[in-house]
Amino acid sequence: MFKSLSGAQIRQTFLDFYAARGHQILPSASLVPEDPTVLLTIAGMLPFKPIFLGQRKSEFLRATTSQKCIRTNDIENVGRTARHHTFFEMLGNFSFGDYFKEKAIAWAWELSTEVFGLPAERVVVSVFREDEEAFAIWRDQIGIPSHRIIRMDEADNFWTSGPTGPCGPCSELYYDFHPERGDDTIDLEDDSRFIEFYNLVFMQYNRDADGNLTPLQAQNIDTGLGLERMAQILQQVPNNYETDLILPIVQTAATIAGIDYATSDEKTQVSLKVIGDHIRAVVHLITDGVTPSNTDRGYVLRRLIRRVVRHGRLIGIDRPFTPEVAEAAIALSEDAYPNVRVRETSIKSELQLEESRFLETLDRGEKLLAEIITRTKKQISGKDAFVLYDTYGFPLELTQEVAEEKGLTVDADGFEAEMEKQRQRSQAAHETIDLTVQGSIDQLAEHIHSTEFLGYTEFSSSAQVAALLVEGKAVDHASAGATVQIILDQTPFYAESGGQIGDRGYLSGDDLLVRVEDVQKESDFFVHFGRIERGTLKVGDTVSAQIDRACRRRAQANHSATHLLQAALKKFVDESISQAGSLVAFDRLRFDFNLSRPVTPDELQQIEEQVNTWIAEAHTAHITVMPLTEAKAKGATAMFGEKYGDEVRVLDFTGVSMELCGGTHVSNTAEIGVFKIVSESGVAAGIRRIEAVAGSAVLDYLNVRDKVVRDLSERFKAKPEELPDRVTSLQIELKQTQKQLETLRAELALAKSDQLLDQAQPVGSFKLLVAEMAGADPESLKTAAERLQKKLGDAAVVLGSVPEADKVSLVAAFSKSVNDKGLQAGKFIGAIAKICGGGGGGRPNLAQAGGRDPKQLAVALETARQELETGLG
Ligand code: ALA
Repeated sequence: MFKSLSGAQIRQTFLDFYAARGHQILPSASLVPEDPTVLLTIAGMLPFKPIFLGQRKSEFLRATTSQKCIRTNDIENVGRTARHHTFFEMLGNFSFGDYFKEKAIAWAWELSTEVFGLPAERVVVSVFREDEEAFAIWRDQIGIPSHRIIRMDEADNFWTSGPTGPCGPCSELYYDFHPERGDDTIDLEDDSRFIEFYNLVFMQYNRDADGNLTPLQAQNIDTGLGLERMAQILQQVPNNYETDLILPIVQTAATIAGIDYATSDEKTQVSLKVIGDHIRAVVHLITDGVTPSNTDRGYVLRRLIRRVVRHGRLIGIDRPFTPEVAEAAIALSEDAYPNVRVRETSIKSELQLEESRFLETLDRGEKLLAEIITRTKKQISGKDAFVLYDTYGFPLELTQEVAEEKGLTVDADGFEAEMEKQRQRSQAAHETIDLTVQGSIDQLAEHIHSTEFLGYTEFSSSAQVAALLVEGKAVDHASAGATVQIILDQTPFYAESGGQIGDRGYLSGDDLLVRVEDVQKESDFFVHFGRIERGTLKVGDTVSAQIDRACRRRAQANHSATHLLQAALKKFVDESISQAGSLVAFDRLRFDFNLSRPVTPDELQQIEEQVNTWIAEAHTAHITVMPLTEAKAKGATAMFGEKYGDEVRVLDFTGVSMELCGGTHVSNTAEIGVFKIVSESGVAAGIRRIEAVAGSAVLDYLNVRDKVVRDLSERFKAKPEELPDRVTSLQIELKQTQKQLETLRAELALAKSDQLLDQAQPVGSFKLLVAEMAGADPESLKTAAERLQKKLGDAAVVLGSVPEADKVSLVAAFSKSVNDKGLQAGKFIGAIAKICGGGGGGRPNLAQAGGRDPKQLAVALETARQELETGLG
């Protein structure tokens, strides 16, 4: 019967089982895939995609991994069903052109029934409708009765990693929680009875954008066993969240909320499960170098954190709590993924920042909701409800609750429709793997597997045209005037990567000239974007490829300077600073890094001086290729997100900076010449950016500055060094002029106010003056009211004005005798201001108030007059 195993034991058992069958155990790849067309690692096979496509050779024929994965397409179901996740671990065994269906099925069966001990009669399998071979293996070799081998169609049993790419029929293993319901009604979609736990993909085709399948060079195996699902089955708990992989996080959240998970109602349990699921995703995303932002992965992360905070509020947590639940997730993961502990400080500080920022947003959302309620008559629109949900994290139910209190309803269908639109947007943007370009290039450049890069040592070389595209379509030849994309078998041109932009230059031959304006990498091919200036270019031609050396030198200076900049930042600001992005262009460099405060001007100066000192010290660049583990042991700085067992290129300016880097660099820091920081700014929560220039780019920068200074000198008729004094004295002059202007305005207001004296009317023994003073600012209005009241003696004066759009200013000045009649200026004007949508108050004899609705000013003044007539009469 069952082996009751912990999550960690299940993971290890799986890996050991396949290691004993000739599989190399490899570490999990980063959640941030190497493949730039994919947002997040969604399956165990993703890191092997180039191998399946035949673009990269694998060192091993068989491999096995436990891969961290994130899928957000079903985020709404998390916590509501027993098995939906954003973050999960996929255990996989892979064959690269080695074993195929027979062994994959036999081992999957042996592992499930003999090692994990699932009773055979509790396992039902599915095959692709047309896959007779798999059907026969299950029936004849494994001995599963035919009626328990369910044939499924393409939608369910043909697995593709995206709209295009490696794919194939698959066969799944399901666990049956309720065998007593009998074999007559097997419906694998019924998740109250079945859970799919193991998927075997017979990866043998590449699908192109038109849906055509071409056989891959080799027949491969890609599988995925859901670790959390196997844990649910073996630990006999009702859902994945109650396994030992997640329950401790759920309990931590419950403790913070002061509740008990087991006895909570369903809604509360859903919130706890969402927290348990999402915080694992959050911890691993930050570990892999993602920071919250409004785009791409950063957005996924931000959305997850906000959902955690929101569900925290729903269960009554009213203080920041995410770092605490993150700690529970770190503690659970650190044995299998030690990096989570290494990145603990970053994880917790990112969370703290994002959580407090979001709480402010929530407060703003509450204000927006109040506003929506004021302008809504009967029903809050789906769009409004969705904005509240999406931007401010308000669940629909919360909006509905508040709306109900005010006698309003919410258009839930409209909300759903907006939600569906968003889902489609995010699926299109986030979940698919676009191999369209790769697929076609793959078929085009069929006689080469990759472009060989010669540019670390060569500036020019001969090269053969392997493929040629015009407007994305393959052609045999192209002539002068055509804009083309060219794939060469080898090239000295650097293709944009690691932040460094592609080289510029020329391809030439007999009466042929092609200007290359950019170079991009598509998997292992270098695509040269250019324009044919002269002659005709044909596939198969041999050309001479030559880069623009001046551009290359500029890129090199900026790139090496970026490394020195990072080293200086670590030295003077924070040892734990890590790169969050970079751009190395010909004319500038940009370096983004994690830091939750600005770099101070003093620090910037220190950094600039240090980099220039290192430049002057003429450090030689030592470049070595070594295994990643060795590079790490030597202390090389790496971005989070490493590749499997790869050799890496390490650039070492001894004693100054050692970094993994595939870019091109100076051979000695002295070649950089000079380095200048241009700006420091914040780009997103916890991310700062430094822009700088190095080498001859500094001259360009200084020339532009110089031109500005000259221009100013000319205009101010001053020498450059006199400019600061000149500007200061102008500022002083301006201030004085403004003061004079204010005085004049006040005098004018007083003069005008004297004209109002005539409008005073007698009421009993008092004088009453109520008037508007067009445009007067609050200060002048007050002075005028006070002065008029004094002049009139026993009097009540009320003045109003509209000093600026959407503002009303009101003032009341009452004599002591008016107060004796029971009228207080403060209370009186406060009540009048309400008519203009405002309020205010003050002393009994003099008080001011404001409002926001100028249209009501006349009504307000008329009301004041009537009240006073009655009060004084
Ligand atoms: N790649 C397959 C999946 O994700 C195993 O289900």
